[in-house]
Amino acid sequence: RPGWPGVIAAYADRIELPEGAKPVTLQEGGTPLVEAPHLSELTGCQVYLKVEGANPTGSFKDRGMTVAMTYALASGVAGVICASTGNTSASAAAYAARAGLTCAVLVPSGKIAKGKLAQAVVYGARILQIDGNFDDCLELARKTSAEYPIELVNSVNPVRLVGQQSAAWEICDTLGRAPDVHCLPVGNAGNITAYWSGYRAYAADGVVGSLPRMFGFQAAGAAPLVHGKPVPDPDTIATAIRVGNPASWTRAVTARDESDGLIDAVTDQDILAAYHLLARREGVFVEPASAAAVAGLLAAAADGRIPKGSLVTCTVTGHGLKDPDTVLAEMAPVEAIPVEPHAVAHALELA
Ligand code: F0G
Repeated sequence: RPGWPGVIAAYADRIELPEGAKPVTLQEGGTPLVEAPHLSELTGCQVYLKVEGANPTGSFKDRGMTVAMTYALASGVAGVICASTGNTSASAAAYAARAGLTCAVLVPSGKIAKGKLAQAVVYGARILQIDGNFDDCLELARKTSAEYPIELVNSVNPVRLVGQQSAAWEICDTLGRAPDVHCLPVGNAGNITAYWSGYRAYAADGVVGSLPRMFGFQAAGAAPLVHGKPVPDPDTIATAIRVGNPASWTRAVTARDESDGLIDAVTDQDILAAYHLLARREGVFVEPASAAAVAGLLAAAADGRIPKGSLVTCTVTGHGLKDPDTVLAEMAPVEAIPVEPHAVAHALELA
């Protein structure tokens, strides 16, 4: 990590820029691939977590945003726009600030985690809330960018996914091979598309000798890819993946089928169980959407869909601090005590 230059410079041979473009970077990427001993014991596999919360704005979105913002700046547009369940807007706002571009974000009313909204505010984005869900926001952002001089930086912008491939490359570079299975949460389906493309590029160039099976997980209340049809009113505690009609639908299905993988659903209850397990047994605090991947991993290992002994990587996509309400809503975190050592000892059952 010391000296890590950001994904554009780290993978300059694989990420093409416009002529003369100056990279807009916050030195994103180079995130830890952390061993998960408790998950490994539970699953009988060798499990690693790709901790994307360690990126500059706390999610994997920064990997694509550095490339998208570099292109936007080079093109001479004055501003960028995106639809978001929260993380894309936080990332777009930060990179736009860095580039000196104005940033507009379209968000669904009342369903953005507090930390993400705070990020968009502090980075100086214009936050426009609409009475609709993420899918409605994305449609509006697409139409606006088609009609007005403002660049769309959602993952339907192809250069976003070029940058997001870097996570797959880093995993292979660290392990010296591709994993057997790669688990990740799926919302708008850009990331599973980018990972699969990244792994395939490395295999095609002989950097790795095999490809992983891609295991994607959606929340049960927002699982269009599992049901095979759009969900008009998606709902889940994992607001980041509250998406009813993923933009990269076809490519996600291709990644699943070409890799002999699967896309399955996990309940909010399973997501919360995995969320607590990650924090309390592995020491890794993620947001609920990220825990969906771990919930899926546990289910797939339990019923044999992931064979014992597999090398498994699991992307935990966003930092836990982005969504403090989830944890504070469901437990009483603070006990008031008198200012006395015996009161501390009593509370801790030391005496
Ligand atoms: N995990 C987190 C924390 C996310 O923010 C997202 C997507 C995903 C997983 C799913 O990735 O969409 O590529 O399948 N968040 C988008 C946003 C929708 O607006 O921030 P995906």
